Amino acid sequence: MAHKKIIIIGGGVIGLGIGWQLVKAGASVTIHERGETGRAASWAAAGMLAPLAEAHTEESALLKLGCESLARYPQWVDALESDAEMSIGYRAEGTLIIGLEPDDTHQLRHLYTAQQDLGLDVEWLSGREAREIEPVLSPRVTAAIHCATDYQVDNRLMVTALQHAYQTCGGMLYEKSAVEKIVIENGTATGVQTQDGFQAADRLILAAGCWSAQVKGLPDTIVPPVRPVKGQMLALQMEAGIAINSVIRTVRARYPTSVYLVPRTDGRLIVGATSEEMGFDTRLTSGGVFELLRGAWEAVPGTYELPLLETWAGLRPGSRDNAPILGKTPINNLIYATGHYRNGILLTPVTSYEIAKLVLTGETSEIIAPFQLDRFLK
Ligand code: FAD
Ligand code: GLY
Repeated sequence: MAHKKIIIIGGGVIGLGIGWQLVKAGASVTIHERGETGRAASWAAAGMLAPLAEAHTEESALLKLGCESLARYPQWVDALESDAEMSIGYRAEGTLIIGLEPDDTHQLRHLYTAQQDLGLDVEWLSGREAREIEPVLSPRVTAAIHCATDYQVDNRLMVTALQHAYQTCGGMLYEKSAVEKIVIENGTATGVQTQDGFQAADRLILAAGCWSAQVKGLPDTIVPPVRPVKGQMLALQMEAGIAINSVIRTVRARYPTSVYLVPRTDGRLIVGATSEEMGFDTRLTSGGVFELLRGAWEAVPGTYELPLLETWAGLRPGSRDNAPILGKTPINNLIYATGHYRNGILLTPVTSYEIAKLVLTGETSEIIAPFQLDRFLK
């Protein structure tokens, strides 16, 4: 592949991760990024690596993909931190899912049963046992599930590291360079149209997050069914006495928004997130921020006193079945890597390794085979 030219549309974690793997293998890669690299969903995310906490019984292939990606994280972190010469804040303190009222405990028990049916390594804790792990938890916490192997990474550091590693290994990156159109001739993708004209490519990878369906030039039948799902977020500054180590997630049977709290090594406490079908709207709302602050305060009352550092909203790329769309398409030389929805940070290693392998060898590995576009074409 060394003499072949690969173009990637989109410079989020997915485009950068695939690009990095390809340039490391000696390929010639160009990423076109419409805005600033990695500043869309990949920047907005919380960085939870949570296949167990987010497991759903009806999504066993996705659970397997998530667990596989999590298992590859240590190798991914070592290689990326070495190439980028920086830490990406990978932390392995585990996750507590907590309930605060009897209704929550019922919902929690339901989740726990489902996790056990899936054979997941989770533990039921009383409120007291949960507070032994995280003493700042509210005395109202009635029960918890401990997902000891659901970790986190600092996604903003990972974006920065990926850009650095990709460029250091020889990858070309054009920012403020939107791909206006994918050019297809006789059933084969031949390149892209940008503001600088036609750019020829031997392989094209569409990794444009929630905008993937908007890139022109695709036949209607194969436009990836991806939509934006808005998430409002905020960050607090942890202070002495409010130190949290685990990721904490609430189950709130009676409220519209369950929250999560993700403690960063630099002292930031990320609180998220709403889940809203509002198209491409990224405005913050008082109701959204209120729900986050209330949820954080209920879980950890001491958050009431913490300085508010930042608020933001991002757009998750959700597919029609909320699973990613990975692999070949009916168009020769056109590959999709999109629709990672709530788990794109978790799924970055497996997506990057397996899509790079597909580009280099033409082989679709078993682990990504269930996620090809053809599941929507039947
Ligand atoms: P993006 O990061 O959105 O990147 C796509 C890029 O493509 C953008 O930079 C965009 O500018 C560019 N682009 C678009 N159109 C074009 C074009 N025509 N030409 C060139 N470039 C183009 N995942 C987890 O695993 N754990 C979490 O805890 C987590 N929390 C989240 C919380 C929130 C609030 C949100 C919004 C998401 C969260 N996610 C989480 C999901 C995760 O962030 C995404 O699944 C992941 O970032 C998707 O990466 P991406 O590279 O596909 O998309
Ligand atoms: N996975 C967390 C979120 O999407 O909000």
